[in-house]
Amino acid sequence: MTKVAVDLGTTGNGDPAEMDLEELLSTRLLVQGNSGSGKSHLFRRILEQSAGWVQQAIIDPEGDFVSFSDRFGHVVVDADRTPAELARIAARIRQHRVSVVLNLEGLDAEVQMSCASAFLNGLFDADRHYWFPMLIAVDEAQIFAPSMAGEVADEARRTSLGAMTNLMCRGRKRGLAGMIATQRLAKLAKNVAAEASNFLMGRTFLDIDMARAADLLGMDRKQAERFRDLEPGQFVALGPALSRRPIPIRIGPVETAGRSGRPVLMALPEASPEAMADLIFTAGADEPAHLPAPVRRESVATRDLLERVSAPRFAAAMPAADEPEEEVFDEAAEAERQERLDAIFDELMADPQAAFRPVQMLYQDFLTHCRLKRITDAGLDMGAFRRKLGLARAGVGAGVDDATWGEVVERSEELPDDMQGVYLLLAKAARDGQPCPGDDVLAKAYGSHSPSRGRFLLTYMAERGYIAAETDFRGNRVVEIAGSGWRTGAGSARPRLPGATPRLRRA
Ligand SMILES: Nc1ncnc2c1ncn2[C@@H]1O[C@H](COP(=O)(O)OP(=O)(O)OP(=O)(O)O)[C@@H](O)[C@H]1O
Ligand SMILES: [Mg+2]
Repeated sequence: MTKVAVDLGTTGNGDPAEMDLEELLSTRLLVQGNSGSGKSHLFRRILEQSAGWVQQAIIDPEGDFVSFSDRFGHVVVDADRTPAELARIAARIRQHRVSVVLNLEGLDAEVQMSCASAFLNGLFDADRHYWFPMLIAVDEAQIFAPSMAGEVADEARRTSLGAMTNLMCRGRKRGLAGMIATQRLAKLAKNVAAEASNFLMGRTFLDIDMARAADLLGMDRKQAERFRDLEPGQFVALGPALSRRPIPIRIGPVETAGRSGRPVLMALPEASPEAMADLIFTAGADEPAHLPAPVRRESVATRDLLERVSAPRFAAAMPAADEPEEEVFDEAAEAERQERLDAIFDELMADPQAAFRPVQMLYQDFLTHCRLKRITDAGLDMGAFRRKLGLARAGVGAGVDDATWGEVVERSEELPDDMQGVYLLLAKAARDGQPCPGDDVLAKAYGSHSPSRGRFLLTYMAERGYIAAETDFRGNRVVEIAGSGWRTGAGSARPRLPGATPRLRRA
C-alpha cells in the first residue's frame, strides 16, 4: 500500500524528510520553536503539501493563511458571525468537506478564544455521518490553550481550553486531527500538548521550554541542549508519522509527488470557491427553520392589514402615488382630502424635532393644522395616528406589500403602539439585508434621545420572542425578525459620533 507522504524537506544527511499523512491524522502534531524559528513557515509547508489530500481548517490568529483561498480554494470564514452562526457554519463545513481558514486577525485574545471555541465545538459536534478526516491547524496554540490563567476572563479560558482539549484528546474518533504550534511549550496547557505523538522542535532558548520539550520527547536534558543550536527552518522530528528516533530536518522547497492515497483519503469535491462559500454560508434545505414566530395574542386578518398599510392614507412620508387605488376611494374629493391630510402630516414630520416630540402633542398639532385647512374630519383617531407616526419614524413607506411583510405588520400590532415603529424599522433593515440600526437610531424611532432606550426596546422585543438580537465576534449586532427568516447585517450598536470615520480594514 502506498502511503500519502507529505514532503517536508531534507534530513541531516540530505535524504527527503517525509511525514505520513494518514499516520499524522491519527497521532497529531506539536510544533515548538521560538519566534522566528520557522513554525509558521513549516505549517504553511505542511498545509500546502497536504491541501490536495485532506480537508483542512486553519485557525489563523494573524490572518497569515488567508492567501490559501486564492491558491488552494479555501473559504475564508471571518469572525463577523455570531456564536450560533459559526457553529452552524462549522457543521456545514464538515458536511460539505470544504477547506477553510478561520480568520481571527485583529481580535482581542479573549474574543479569539471564544470565536475559535464556537468554531471548534461546531466541528466536533458534527453529525457522525460527516466524520470525515480533517486536519485542524492551530498556530499560536498557547492563545487557545494557555497553561495559566492570564488577563482573559476565566469563562473564555475555560471554554477555549475545553474546545482544544476536545480536539486533541477526543477528536480522533470524529476524524479531527490537531496540528498545533507554539512559541513556548511552558505556556501551553500540558494536557493539550501531551496528546500529540509527533513533534517538530525548532530553536528553543529558555531552559523551562527545553526541559518540557525533553520530557515530551523522552530525551535527557543534555540531548535537548541541541535545540539551542538549531537554525531557522531546522527542526528535530520525532513520532510515528515522522521518525522513530529524533532526526534533524530542514524544511525546504521540495515538491510533493502526487501518489494515490488509501481509500480514507478521498479526493475533495471540486467546485469553485464561490460555490463552496455558498455551500457553507447558507442554510441547506434540511436545516431547521429560523426563529419561529412568537405566539400570537390576537388575530387580525392579514388582508385587512395589508390594505391598511398599502392604502394611500397610510403611505406615510411618501407622496401619494397616482395608483389605481382610486377605485377604492371612488370619490375624487375623498382622494383629494387624503392628499391634503398626507401633506399636513408630511409637513409635521419634516421638522427634525418631530421625531422626539410626544405623540399627543404631535396629534394636537396635526388636528390644529387640519382645522386651519378646513378639514373637519381628519379620519384618524389617536391610535391610528400613533401607528402612522410609527411607520413614518421607521421610514417605512408604501410599496411594501409582500405576504411576509403583511405578517410582520400584523405582528407589530401586538406590540405597544409606540414600539411598533421600532419593530418595523428593524424588520425593514432585516428584509433589505441592511446593517442593524444603532441604539440611537432605534431610540429616535421611539421618540427618545437616549440610546439606552434603544437597548431597552431590543431587550423588550427579544424577551417576548419578536426578535433575536445577537452580537458577532467583531462586536456588531445582528437582529433576526421572528417568523420571517429575515436577518439584518452586522451593525454597530453604538451611536455614530459626528465626524467619526469608519475604521479601515485590511482588504
Ligand atoms: N525553512 C525555511 N526556509 C526559508 N525561510 C524560512 C524557513 N523557515 C522560516 N523561514 C523564514 O524565517 C522567518 C520566520 O519564520 P516564521 O514566521 O515561520 O517563524 P515563526 O516560528 O512562526 O515565528 P513566530 O513565532 O514569531 O510566529 C520568515 O521570514 C520565514 O520566511
Ligand atoms: Mg508564526
